[in-house]
Amino acid sequence: KVPYVVTSKSYTAVAINAASKAGEWIKSKLGTVKQLGMKSGAQDLVTEVDKGAEQMIRKLILTHFPDHHILGEEGVEPGPQASADALKEALDEDYVWIVDPIDGTTNYVHGFPFYCVSIALAYQGEVIVGVIYDPSRDELFVAEKGKGCYVHGNRMEVSAEGRLSESLIATGFPVGISSTLPMNMAGLQHLVPKVRNIRSGGSAALHMAYVAAGRLSGFWEIGLNAWDLAAGALIVQESGGSVSDTLGRPYDLSVRNVVASNRKIHSEFVEALKEANATGLNG
Ligand code: IPD
Ligand code: CA
Ligand code: CA
Ligand code: CA
Repeated sequence: KVPYVVTSKSYTAVAINAASKAGEWIKSKLGTVKQLGMKSGAQDLVTEVDKGAEQMIRKLILTHFPDHHILGEEGVEPGPQASADALKEALDEDYVWIVDPIDGTTNYVHGFPFYCVSIALAYQGEVIVGVIYDPSRDELFVAEKGKGCYVHGNRMEVSAEGRLSESLIATGFPVGISSTLPMNMAGLQHLVPKVRNIRSGGSAALHMAYVAAGRLSGFWEIGLNAWDLAAGALIVQESGGSVSDTLGRPYDLSVRNVVASNRKIHSEFVEALKEANATGLNG
């Protein structure tokens, strides 16, 4: 069953159609992975389902928009330099689709039902459409620049917490980049006593969608890539939230160290992360 079958050629309709179709296919393959590949190491997984889903999404997009550029995770060599180069090259084009075919591959491989498809469209470097589909819960998050964010037709809004002490915060641990570990640990050590509690679900894009839906007050993570964040960033902003880097600078596609929140806690959150990094753990 595909939740939305859309025949219109609008950008959002194509993004919804691609995310829904790929998501249903990914879910149908759960537990059947035959080729478990390792990219930068044993933490950094890729399967034939990641690759197949990316191909499927690529084809669907190019059928409608043959001259648009597609930046997909599985088409880029692992590592921050290759990602930065691929993003720079992509941004030479006006229209760039930014695709994470499975965000949460580790969860997918282990059967932990917290993974999603993330598809964004950027025009001249600015995200104008963001779609995240979670096939496990059949939840489709859709945002268009300036038009709000909806989950299955219902408008989404961030949560109301005004203080970190009342906040449920998520974070994640980047795969295959050990240099970010001290920064992660410093953040955790500093944040745990300040917030209500911390969660780490293993999908950056779904964490962003959950901030937008008011299920999390905020999320931060170090060392992400454009495909982890592009759709989620618009989804959070269009739900009334804020997205910045960990120094508080506004989100753009090059941001790797992200802070997303319900806006009310944003400055306290960013300040706490700055303090964490000043504790010395991060050097
Ligand atoms: C990963 C997930 C995970 C995050 C990692 C990402 P992938 O994406 O978003 O939550 O902690 O940093 O690389 O590889 O499953 O698409
Ligand atoms: Ca990956
Ligand atoms: Ca990802
Ligand atoms: Ca992925």
